[in-house]
Amino acid sequence: MLKGKKIILGICGSIAAYKAAALTRLLVKAGAEVQVVMTPDAVEFITPLTLSTLSNKPVLTAYFEKKTGTWNHHVQLGLWADLVLIAPASANTLAKLANGLCDNLLCAVYLSAKCPVYLAPAMDLDMWAHPSTQSNIKKLQEYGNRLIPPGTGELASGLVGEGRLAEPEEILRFLEKTLADAASERKGPLNGKKALVSAGPTHEAIDPVRFIGNHSSGKMGYAIAEALHQLGADVTLVSGPTSLPTPNGVKRIDVVSAKDMLEACSLAFAEADITVMSAAVADYTPETVADRKIKKKDTHFTIALKKTTDILATLGARKQTHQLLVGFALETDNELANAVGKLKKKNLDFIVLNSMQDKGAGFAGDRNKITIIDRNHQQVTFPLKTKKEVATDICDFIIKALGFRQ
Ligand code: CTP
Repeated sequence: MLKGKKIILGICGSIAAYKAAALTRLLVKAGAEVQVVMTPDAVEFITPLTLSTLSNKPVLTAYFEKKTGTWNHHVQLGLWADLVLIAPASANTLAKLANGLCDNLLCAVYLSAKCPVYLAPAMDLDMWAHPSTQSNIKKLQEYGNRLIPPGTGELASGLVGEGRLAEPEEILRFLEKTLADAASERKGPLNGKKALVSAGPTHEAIDPVRFIGNHSSGKMGYAIAEALHQLGADVTLVSGPTSLPTPNGVKRIDVVSAKDMLEACSLAFAEADITVMSAAVADYTPETVADRKIKKKDTHFTIALKKTTDILATLGARKQTHQLLVGFALETDNELANAVGKLKKKNLDFIVLNSMQDKGAGFAGDRNKITIIDRNHQQVTFPLKTKKEVATDICDFIIKALGFRQ
């Protein structure tokens, strides 16, 4: 289950940090790619050299490396990871995480992470039993973090106590079991596939309080992300500003502008087998963003705009043969001809044409009427349906298209 998984192993200042060496070895042996991030105190307990040798990667301890001047970007690390495991998690770090403090790289990575987080606490019994620690643990679990219970397990040895770090073998077994349970819950035709979905509008800043946006609700993209997940895919959802809840089990990356969306999508696309770009990306953005609120003066006011990068076309140009790329088109005139034009120009496998002609269909509503057109100009028009049903139709098309390739 851990094969190919990208794991951030966070290590805190605790005597149990010595067990992190065995843990790193076990994770690497299980096929995981391990990036160790240590708190400044952790390096007093175990040397980064030991861990970088075992993980085959430089160990990160600070926002920037003084020697090389390299900046360790916590947001990118948080997005890179499929799983964050903090073992040992000290009482101090748990308290910081429970309260959103980020005075070191590990805490900042935790706050930026978009993946499941596992915490394996280690401390002496009194610290563990203290109401403050217990309330922090409770809070962290409420936030969705998973607790790997301290060692009272079958492998307990030496200092057996309630706050003792679970043995590395127990931690590994816990991770394997949780991941296997999650995977078996949703066995489907897209099992093992990675999917990227973009959704929602983008906001292009004019000044600190104003932006250019559009009425996209994000509902269509969120429904597609949810449907792909239910069919077994590992889904990353790059979302512009919406008020929608994250679909269960989906990794959501929030962005604001077209530029942010391009960056997040480019990163995730490299690994995606299936990409569906349903976001309503701004085609133009203000040439300059005022750093102060613009005051009203004249009767007329003009904003100079420049073109944004077409994300879909950028990904289309990079597309490999095993990757499936789906775009959307919202047209008012010459619907079919325009959609086919976009399909070719952006190198898509198929395009979903959104009809603007039916009442209740489109951007902000709950329903859509679509036509799907593929590279052979085959087209299927569906009746007006809820966005959830439309998402299922699109996913059926994706499954068929992948089937033809095998
Ligand atoms: N798209 C994108 N990046 C942009 C603009 C659009 O990725 N900067 C994607 C949308 O997510 C959608 C598709 O391109 O999947 C079509 O968007 P649309 O706005 O309908 O078409 P454009 O190609 O921008 O052409 P026009 O606005 O002239 O119709």
